[in-house]
Amino acid sequence: MSKEKILTIQDLTKSFGDNLVLDGISFTVEKGEVVVIIGPSGTGKSTLLRCVNQLTPPNSGRVWLGEQEITGSHGNINRLRQDIGFVFQHFALFNHLSALGNVEVGLYKVKKMSREEARRKALEELRRVGLEDHKDKFPAELSGGQQQRVGIARALAMDPKIMLFDEPTSALDPELTGEVLAVMQDLAKAGMTMVVVSHEIGFARTVGNRIIFMEHGHIVEQGSPEDLLFRPQKDRTGEFLKKIGELYGG
Ligand SMILES: Nc1ncnc2c1ncn2[C@@H]1O[C@H](COP(=O)(O)OP(=O)(O)OP(=O)(O)O)[C@@H](O)[C@H]1O
Ligand SMILES: [Mg+2]
Repeated sequence: MSKEKILTIQDLTKSFGDNLVLDGISFTVEKGEVVVIIGPSGTGKSTLLRCVNQLTPPNSGRVWLGEQEITGSHGNINRLRQDIGFVFQHFALFNHLSALGNVEVGLYKVKKMSREEARRKALEELRRVGLEDHKDKFPAELSGGQQQRVGIARALAMDPKIMLFDEPTSALDPELTGEVLAVMQDLAKAGMTMVVVSHEIGFARTVGNRIIFMEHGHIVEQGSPEDLLFRPQKDRTGEFLKKIGELYGG
C-alpha cells in the first residue's frame, strides 16, 4: 500500500536576477515523514521552504499539498497556507503580544474561532510545548528557546498538515537548543509530517526518516540517515558532513 503524499515538489526553479538559486528541485514527503534538509549556506534551503508556501513565488515548477496544487492557486493560497506551519530561525513573534496572545491571534483573526475557543486551543498548544506557566509573558521576557517554542505552538495551533522548520535552533545557545529539539521530537512521535532545515545531525539521525543534501540549488543526494551519514554515495556529501562535524562537533 503506497502511503499518502502530503507534499509534492516537482521541478521547482527560482532565480533572483541572474542568480539561479533553485535549479529543478523535486521530491515528495509522505504523511508522518520527517525530512531533514542540509547543505551549505546560500544553497537555496530557505528559498525552497519559502517557495513551498509561496512566500517566494517560484519561476517554474509545481507544488501540491496533498491533492491540492499550491502553485497557481491564486485566491486559494491563503486557505492553503493555513495548512502549512512555518517556524523561522528568528522566531518572528509579535513583540507586543504575550505568549498566549501570539498563539491565539491567528485562531480568531484567520481561523475565525470565537475568543473563548481560540484561548482554549492556544492554552492547549502552549501546554504541549511546556509553556503554559509562561503564557502571560511577552517575548522579551522569554528565553530564545522559550520564544521558539511559542513559535512552534503558534504554528501548531492552526492544525497544519505539515510543518516546515527553517534552522529553528541556529539562533539559540547550545543549552537552549535541546529543549526546542525535544519539542520537535515529540511532534514527530505524534505523527506530524515535517520538513526541517537543520544541521543538528543528532536530531537528523534519531528523528529524521530521510536526509536531503542540497548544494547550488540541486539535490546532490538523499537517503535514510544511516545511509546518507555513514555511507554517502557522493564525495561532496562526505566533504560537507566532515565540515559540519567540525563546526558542530557532531
Ligand atoms: N529576496 C532575495 N533577493 C535576492 N536574492 C536572494 C533573496 N533571497 C535569497 N537570495 C539569494 O538566494 C541564494 C540562496 O539563499 P537562501 O537563503 O535560500 O540559502 P540558504 O541555503 O537558506 O542559506 P543559509 O544556510 O545561509 O540560510 C543566496 O545567494 C541569497 O543571496
Ligand atoms: Mg537559510
